[in-house]
Order: sequence, then structure tokens, then C-alpha cells
Amino acid sequence: MNNVSTTMSAIDPEAPGGPEVLRVVQRPVPQPGPGEVLIRVAAAGVNRPDILQRKGGYPPPPGAPSIPGLEVAGEIVALGEGVTAEMLGQPVCALLAGGGYAEFAVAPVGQCLPVPNALSMIEAAAIPETLFTVWTNLFERGYATEGDTVLVHGGTSGIGTMAIALANIFGLTIIVTAGSDEKCAAAKGLGANHAINYKTQDFVAEVKAITGGAGCAVVLDMVGGDYVPRNMQCLAEDGRHVSIAVQGGLMATVPIFEIMRRRLTLTGSTLRPRDAAFKGLVADELHRTVWPHVEDGKLRPVIDRSYPLAEAAAAHARMESGDHVGKIVLIM
Ligand SMILES: NC(=O)c1ccc[n+]([C@@H]2O[C@H](COP(=O)([O-])OP(=O)(O)OC[C@H]3O[C@@H](n4cnc5c(N)ncnc54)[C@H](OP(=O)(O)O)[C@@H]3O)[C@@H](O)[C@H]2O)c1
Repeated sequence: MNNVSTTMSAIDPEAPGGPEVLRVVQRPVPQPGPGEVLIRVAAAGVNRPDILQRKGGYPPPPGAPSIPGLEVAGEIVALGEGVTAEMLGQPVCALLAGGGYAEFAVAPVGQCLPVPNALSMIEAAAIPETLFTVWTNLFERGYATEGDTVLVHGGTSGIGTMAIALANIFGLTIIVTAGSDEKCAAAKGLGANHAINYKTQDFVAEVKAITGGAGCAVVLDMVGGDYVPRNMQCLAEDGRHVSIAVQGGLMATVPIFEIMRRRLTLTGSTLRPRDAAFKGLVADELHRTVWPHVEDGKLRPVIDRSYPLAEAAAAHARMESGDHVGKIVLIM
């Protein structure tokens, strides 16, 4: 570990609370274990789960750092046992189980993807969490395929903007919802085929009208609660409902006979607690299928704003205000 100091600046709140608990403190630089690399972080993506963690509602999985941050981009500056020497000095972005809000972070080498010339470090840091999540849920669990129509809630969220980008590349028709006409216009500007203002329109009726009554192949849902039976009404026969969050409620009442009659599938997943072997497999697949589009500059994340690490509180406040479109990023 040449030229790497032993302490670093990081955000590591001692207790849950509001954005003000996100103060810069000094922490030891982590050491890469077998199969891991140490990244000098240039930028770290902010995700909604970081806010839940800050509030005390989403503790890090066992073994993960208490420092928040699920994705970074930067340069590999040290290697753990078993990592090939060529990785040293490589610019990468990485999916983390935590630890991104810091000057240095450790990642399993299998969860790193190369940063192509087409991307800035800020852009690269904004990709992994939403790309892994949308890929594994919309395409793998939801089996979305070319020609399908899909409904994605939160069209201007980090997740929603990534879903729009992937839908455009892989030939899906994408309908999104958002909470204002301005956000609907932004989503359409980014490539959504249709955008429904869920505050002024009934998204079930709109989806039926858009699809000529046929419904969607997949719903990617981050709301839960009473959205679930309404989403089911938006599904075509054999449709798939994929839950990735429960912002609107943990519980739902669903008509079981509808699942039987129209052969619907209800599924979902959480990415963070999955092991490094699973995440490594996803990274390999993304490298083959999506990364060529990243290298060509055809897939780039939508950046809302970036903040210095010391202003992490302002970054969280912006996300909680709900005014953002796309990703918020911290720069070191
Ligand atoms: N399962 C997983 O593995 C996984 C991984 C990453 C993220 N997630 C989840 O995915 C969600 C998006 O994450 P993000 O980082 O992209 O967050 P984000 O940018 O803050 O977006 C949150 C979105 O939720 C929408 N929303 C909230 N309440 C809603 C409601 N009642 N009806 C319709 N839309 C509503 C907001 O829409 P408006 O602003 O238009 O109202 C906003 O677009 C979060 O809930 C996060 O926890 C899950």
C-alpha cells in the first residue's frame, strides 16, 4: 500500500438521526482481504437505502462497514491476496455492501467494473447500485425482454432513470409514474415512452388506456402497500410483479384468484445482503451485456447534483426533499 495513509476522512455516524449526523470523522483506512481491492474513492453514489440506514431503519448486513455508501468509483491502490497484479492502478466503479462515503473503500474484485473513457468518475460512481438492482429485478426476476411493455414507478428516481436507459437500449416500451408534471416531462425527456402523474391521474386506468387494455408484462414496484393490488390490475396475463421497496407500506391485500386466473407472478429482492459470489456473477453478466453500451457512451447515468463529502448532509436533504431527478453523488 504505497502512498496510502493509515487514516482517512469518512462519514460514520455514531447514532441514527437527521442529515446533521453526517459529519466528517477520521477512520482507519480499511485493509483489503483475500479477493478484495482497496479503492481510492473519487466519487460515491447516494441511494435511498443510505437514508434509511442513517435513520436507523436499515442496518448494514453482518461484516459490512458502518460507513454508509453502496457504490464508488476511483482507482485501485492496493490488492488483497489472490488479486492479479494488473488490477493495481485500474480505474473502477464498484458495488459495495457499505463503506462508500470515505476516501478509501474495500470491494471484492468481482464487484468492480472498469471505468471507460466515456465516463467521468462522478458518472461511474452513480451506476452500480441502480444498474445491479434494475438488471436483476426487471430483466432477471421479471424476465423483461425486447418488445415488452413495462411499468416502473418512481420514473425520475435513481432506479427509474436507470430503468429508462436500459429499456431504451434493450427494446422495451417503458411507462413510468412520477409525482409532478415537471417530473413526468423530465422522464419523457430521458426516454420514457409514457409518464403518468400519479398525483393527478389514476395510473391503473392510464396503463390500461396506453396498452389498449392488454396490460404490461412487468411492473417494477418501489411503493408496496395498496399499490400492489393496483399494479396487479396493470399486468397482462402471465405478468410479473417485482417488488424492490415498500415506501408506501409493508403489507398488501391481494386477490389470489386473479393470480391464478391470469397466471401472475409476485416476486422481489434486496441486493445488499446478497453474497459476493452472487454479486460477482451479476457483474460478469453486466460486463458482457451492458458494459459495451457504457463504453460506447450510450448508457450514462442521469446526474442530479454532486456535493463534496463534507456536504453529505445537504446531499441527503436534497434526496429527502424529493426534488432531484436522477442520481446524487458525493465527491472526495
Ligand atoms: N431492493 C433493492 O435491492 C433496492 C436497491 C436499491 C434501491 N431500492 C429502493 O428503490 C427505491 C428507489 O431508490 P433510489 O435510490 O432511486 O431513490 P430516489 O431517487 O430517492 O427515488 C425514490 C422514488 O420513490 C418514488 N415514490 C415514493 N413514494 C411514492 C409513492 N407513494 N407513489 C409513487 N412513487 C413514490 C418517488 O417518486 P416522486 O418523487 O415522483 O413522488 C421517487 O422517484 C427506494 O425505495 C430504494 O430503497 C431497492
